[in-house]
Amino acid sequence: MDFHRVGTLVEIPEGELRAYDLPAGRVAIAHVENELFALGDECTHEGCSLAEGEIDDVKDTVVCPCHASEFDLRNGEPIEGPAEDPVPVYTVRVEDGWVEVGPLVGE
Ligand code: FES
Repeated sequence: MDFHRVGTLVEIPEGELRAYDLPAGRVAIAHVENELFALGDECTHEGCSLAEGEIDDVKDTVVCPCHASEFDLRNGEPIEGPAEDPVPVYTVRVEDGWVEVGPLVGE
């Protein structure tokens, strides 16, 4: 997957998440202390939107709003259940103030 421009950095205030639709599916972009993370928006438990969840900026995780599964923003792994499967994590970069989402991390 090439990089896709999804929006501007100012749309994603620090400590918050925003969801964007991409050809590969919906992604949630998290802005944590000057770093961005892009992960699949759909919780692997029952599909709630992780962009509606809460960031933990100490652990670099997002907590699902539905049943509190907690995912590591760096690798998408669930560190608290009930979710058992990871969410995909995408490369993300900022170019001239634009947020761009690229291939899956590790591809
Ligand atoms: S849908 Fe996310 S924890 Fe249940």
